[in-house]
Amino acid sequence: MRIAVYPGTFDPVTKGHLYVVERSAKIFDHVVVAVLVNLKKEPLFSVEERMKFIADSVSHLSNVSVDHFSGLLVHFLQERQARFIIRGLRFVSDLETELQMASMNKDLMPDVETIFIPTHHEFSYLSSSIVKEVAHLGGDVSRFVPNNVLQGFAVKYADSKR
Ligand code: PNS
Repeated sequence: MRIAVYPGTFDPVTKGHLYVVERSAKIFDHVVVAVLVNLKKEPLFSVEERMKFIADSVSHLSNVSVDHFSGLLVHFLQERQARFIIRGLRFVSDLETELQMASMNKDLMPDVETIFIPTHHEFSYLSSSIVKEVAHLGGDVSRFVPNNVLQGFAVKYADSKR
């Protein structure tokens, strides 16, 4: 069984991420979307909120599940008996850090393969950070995030609009 892990911060998930999940689900037997619990960063959404946004958005895909991890990604892969890492690519500039991560992960776990999936051109300039900034400043991000995330922004940023 080909199990792939799609790791990320997903703070929050965007339609760019969801496009990558859809494509991955067609390639692999099972895809685990793995939300990073990063104690050093202060995310806007809790890990539970981030996981729920994703789970609601992928419920139509029977071979996709959502989980969280902390520590090394390769340890999570070993736990889940997965050997594929999926990463979305937007720009050429993404490649530098992505190749660095892929090489480090290969070094740590020699039988791992990182698979890059280009994001849809419509979402190629999207990032969770830019979407958060626009939402925070009152811009319309409904084209870029699922409805549950839009509602999440409305709650988180309600104070700043008063
Ligand atoms: O969505 P992001 O922030 O680009 O995702 C980055 C992520 C989660 C894939 C990366 O930070 C990661 O794998 N962190 C876990 C720690 C780890 O395994 N580091 C060594 C390999 S680079």
